[in-house]
Amino acid sequence: MTQKVTITIDGKTIELPVLEATEGLNVVDVRGLIKEGVFTFDPGFLSTASCESRVTYIDGDAGILMYRGYPIEQLAKHSNHLEVAYLLLNGELPNNSQYLEFESSIKSHQTIDPHFQQMFQGFKQGAHPMSMISAALAGLASLYHDNTDITKPEDRMLTAHRLIAKIPTLAAIAYKHGRGEKYIEPNPELSYAENFLHMCFGTAGEASTVSPTIAKAMDRIFLLHADHEQNASTSTVRMAGSSDCNPYAAISSGATALWGPAHGGANEAVLKMLNEIGDVSRVGEFVKKAKDKSDPFKLMGFGHRVYKNFDPRATVMQESCHDVLAEQGVEDDPLLEVAQALEKIAREDEYFIERKLYPNIDFYSGITLKAVGIPTELFTVIFTLGRMPGWITHWNEMLSAPYKIARPRQLYLGESKRDYVSIGSR
Ligand code: SDX
Repeated sequence: MTQKVTITIDGKTIELPVLEATEGLNVVDVRGLIKEGVFTFDPGFLSTASCESRVTYIDGDAGILMYRGYPIEQLAKHSNHLEVAYLLLNGELPNNSQYLEFESSIKSHQTIDPHFQQMFQGFKQGAHPMSMISAALAGLASLYHDNTDITKPEDRMLTAHRLIAKIPTLAAIAYKHGRGEKYIEPNPELSYAENFLHMCFGTAGEASTVSPTIAKAMDRIFLLHADHEQNASTSTVRMAGSSDCNPYAAISSGATALWGPAHGGANEAVLKMLNEIGDVSRVGEFVKKAKDKSDPFKLMGFGHRVYKNFDPRATVMQESCHDVLAEQGVEDDPLLEVAQALEKIAREDEYFIERKLYPNIDFYSGITLKAVGIPTELFTVIFTLGRMPGWITHWNEMLSAPYKIARPRQLYLGESKRDYVSIGSR
């Protein structure tokens, strides 16, 4: 029998149904409140479930993350990014022939039209790659707008394959352009992560020299970032997509939201912070700043809206980080010493313990990416690359069932009605 809650407003009792979750919190269905002339108020959506979803489950208190029911720890250990992309999109792990067919489709869409590549020439050298990526993603709409019918499941899946296939190539073009270097065509002989690294750091016309350890670490970084429920960038994709806009434009809006240092831009901000701290002796000074309410400084890579426990991705990332540092022979990296000192303080300092501020995925991904030799300006691009399957899966999930355009209301605190006064009388 459906549970109900009642609220009483101005002496009137209103009954609201409770919708049951298969995992985690049930929700109070407040959709009927508008008929009673009542809004709910929840800036930042801390207490708001914006949609139904079957893709990813997070339990922030227990530090649990599952993609389609599979724990992230098991996927990180046994799977790879393309297999996880298939799982997110289709809801089930592929068998061998399904995997090979999916991989072949992705490889068939990796190239970027040579005329389209010219759009990158409009960006000055040294431009941040995220400015180029968000523009390029929206620009893809120019290639596919007239032959993409978003009401057809097959067109939506083709769009998903194109975006997962092309984002590494777009990222590499953006990186090479930013450095004034010649871009390298995708090589379908290479794995997804190895191909990305080869396009960024290889030499045109020469074989890949990417190390298997580094390629595996990069693939795992993509996999760990593949989806994360209704985070800011995914919610942006859903909101933009709810207007029936072009899917490439909706995905571009997600990349734009991700770029912020409070979200996916944090990994780049972590490195800038570690470099600014510079030495273990200055860690205390910065922790003091982070605790000072009059100082806007926050410890980048710490805290999370949902995780009030260790981010399970950070635990896996920590392992990758040590594997890469060991291979690179940089175990005694001074920035790593600063990071380890910050992590220790966060575990022991009352301010962080009381607020349940743990290191999040961006804390370790920043250090791991640096150890892999990835330039800082590519960090958020790599987050974008990893999150692509999640974004397009949520867009597809929304369009696969009845939906309404997202249109929140407000608590109005502005002026009441007043009459216009001519300028001569003001
Ligand atoms: C990602 O949502 C997702 O799932 C995101 C993500 C994904 O995969 O999509 O996991 C990826 O974005 C991870 C988060 C990366 N961002 C950072 O590392 C930036 C630093 N972190 C903070 O900006 C902050 O912790 C947020 C934005 C992540 C979360 O902010 P909330 O949930 O709005 O929490 P809050 O600001 O209300 O903080 C609660 C308290 C406040 O103090 P009080 O007012 O209670 O005294 O904790 C303090 C905050 O001042 N606080 C911090 C802090 N984070 C929160 N104090 C110092 N340093 C910090 N990093």
